[in-house]
Parts: sequence; C-alpha cells; structure tokens
Amino acid sequence: MINSLQDAILGITEAFKADSFGEKINLGVGAYRDDKGKPYVLPSVKAAEQKVINSNLDKEYAGITGVPSFTKAAAVLAYSSSSSVIKDDRLVITQSISGTGALRIGGEFLARFYPSKKIFIPTPSWANHNALFKDSGLEVEKYRYYNKDTIGLDFEGMLADLKSAPEGSLVLLHACAHNPTGIDPTEEQWKQISDVVKVKKHYPFFDMAYQGFASGDTDRDAFAVRYFVAQGHQLCLAQSFAKNMGLYGERVGAFSIVCDSAEEKKRVDSQIKILVRPLYSNPPVHGARIAAEILNDPSLNKQWLGEVKGMADRIISMRSLLKENLEALGSKHDWSHITSQIGMFAYTGLTPQQMEKLAKENSVYATKDGRISVAGITSGNVKRLAESIHKITS
Ligand code: LMR
Repeated sequence: MINSLQDAILGITEAFKADSFGEKINLGVGAYRDDKGKPYVLPSVKAAEQKVINSNLDKEYAGITGVPSFTKAAAVLAYSSSSSVIKDDRLVITQSISGTGALRIGGEFLARFYPSKKIFIPTPSWANHNALFKDSGLEVEKYRYYNKDTIGLDFEGMLADLKSAPEGSLVLLHACAHNPTGIDPTEEQWKQISDVVKVKKHYPFFDMAYQGFASGDTDRDAFAVRYFVAQGHQLCLAQSFAKNMGLYGERVGAFSIVCDSAEEKKRVDSQIKILVRPLYSNPPVHGARIAAEILNDPSLNKQWLGEVKGMADRIISMRSLLKENLEALGSKHDWSHITSQIGMFAYTGLTPQQMEKLAKENSVYATKDGRISVAGITSGNVKRLAESIHKITS
C-alpha cells in the first residue's frame, strides 16, 4: 500500500497556495523574500547571467564533476585561497545538484567506502537530512543539540553524545546558521567540538547551506570548516548556492572531500566520478556558470558580498521588528531568542498545536516544529504576524 505524505517543508507551500485569504503569510520554506514579500533575484546574479549570455557559449556537456571554473572558486570560497588543502592539491570537489545533491553524493560515497555506517545528526536537524542519509544506505543516529528550556544550544548534551558515539562515527555538523534552530556554537565551542571529534576519531561531514547568511560575512561563516581543516581533520563538505546567491531553482552546489595527499585525491576523485555517472551523468551548466562569474570577477564578487550582507541585514531587522511588535502587544513571553538566533530561521518554541492554530485560524504558514523563515517577514506583514503569535500564546 502506498501512502500519500506531504513533505514537512515543501508541503507548507501547497497549504499556503490553497488558502484564499488575501493577507496570508508564508514562513515555510527557507527562501529569501524582499520587503515586498517578493522573490529576489540578486542584481549581481542578473549581471553575471547577462555576461554568460553575452559570451554565447555552447550547451555541450560539462565533465562529470561539473564546470571547473565554478568548482575551483567554490573551493576557495569555503576553504580560502591560502588553505593548505588547495595549495597541496588534496581537495576533491564536484559540482552537485545544490546542497541536497552534495549531501547525497557524500552519503553514497561514505556508505560505500567509510567503515562505519552510523551518521550522527543533531536533534533537531534539517528535515531532509534523515531521509537522504537513510536513502544513501547509512544508519541515522542523533546527538543532542537544542535545549528547549533555554531555547539555546545544549552544548554539554552535544559533547556527551559525541563522546559516547562509537569511535569512528560519521558526524553531520551544520557549518553555520543551523537549520532549523538558528543557534550556532561559538568559536570557543567549535574548538571543543573539534577536540572531541579528533579524540573519538569521528569523521566530520559539514553542511554549509548558508555561508554568508549567519554573519553577513562569508569568511566568518566558514570559521568552523577552516578551523577543522587547520586542526588536521579529514572531512567532507556540502555547499549550496541556493540561499547566498538566490539560485534556488538553478540547483548550484558542490561536494568536496579533504584528502591526505595529492595521490589519495586522484583515487577519491575517480570514485566520485564512478558514483556520479550512473546517478545523473553530469550536472547542469547554466547556474554554475553564473556562480562562476560572480566568484571569479572581482567587481561582481564585491557587489555580491554586499548583496549577501544586505539580505542578512534585512533578516536581522525583521527579527527586531517582530520582537518589538510582540512586546508592544504586551506579550508576557521572553522573545529574546528571536533576535539572538541567526540565519534565515527563528525557532520560536511554539508547539505543533500552536503552529496548527497559526495556520488554520490566522493563515500564517510555517513548519510544525515551530520554525519560521524570517526571510518571509516584511515591514508590511510583521504586525499581523505578531498579533497572530500573540493571540495563540496568551
Ligand atoms: C529549508 O529548510 O526550508 C530549505 O533548505 C529548503 C528545503 O529544501 O527544504
């Protein structure tokens, strides 16, 4: 018997579309909106796309691992140009079908070659992690991450779980702007996590879907990945350009593996190709060409970094506005986590029942776990949103 089930995140859009109320609000999927609530094509993306069109390129297949000018630049964005992994030529990188595709290539690769099949993911984690790692043939286990009493990081719980995990386990870490909680470890805490991962000989798998969205600065947001590399960890990394370049439907991402040596790199690279070829042969070129222009053209790159910061800043100001509005309505709850959390999401602490009321009685749509996409809040809808939240929490 085949059951019908809605996706925890993408299903929200369906419910939102079916609602005929004129002032409905969609805070479901993590996709940036401008202050008019409209999808935003970054001006740097428009300019880069024009450059791509003007160069009148052919539509031949890319190689199995994608567009080299894109993957080279994606590696630099994540690891930095001074990174030893790039200088020593020991990074394997392949273009991927955005972040999900990168995670899936990683899952498949590790299921084939890594001795342990257990991958530990945080509780909670992005709703798709569980399914995609399971489908890759891994066993998904959890480590503590969120403390619902403090609406903050359960750092002790996290370290304890990483310590008690079997030696040599796979550990999924959100590099920055943890989805769904918006709570990241501090730099000090990352150092301790790195120590535990090292002592336990775990293998870190970083998911970096929001580079630039946490702090507005792509270098700062890469701290954890770069620190782990500097500590000598071999690791792998999934990158997405959906959010930071707004290239959602173009599906632009990269998967990379830090190897021991240039010799190991050759072997891993050939296995990645063997894995990708029967999956989808080779990735689409258009979005990767756009991203390559942005990453490689110094003036477009500067413009893009400013636009990323602009998106991050608008989200920060919406967090403050939401909190202010809730306080102005006389809410007795402590909403300070709305402004202390970072990235695209606020993890409100609202229960699934309250989220249902928010949708059914107030036409405000978001995931059942209480996550709201702050990127969907505007100066035009924040008041009604605060009123709706106040109504169901008082
Ligand atoms: C999200 O968490 O909303 C985004 O990553 C979009 C998705 O594919 O789920």
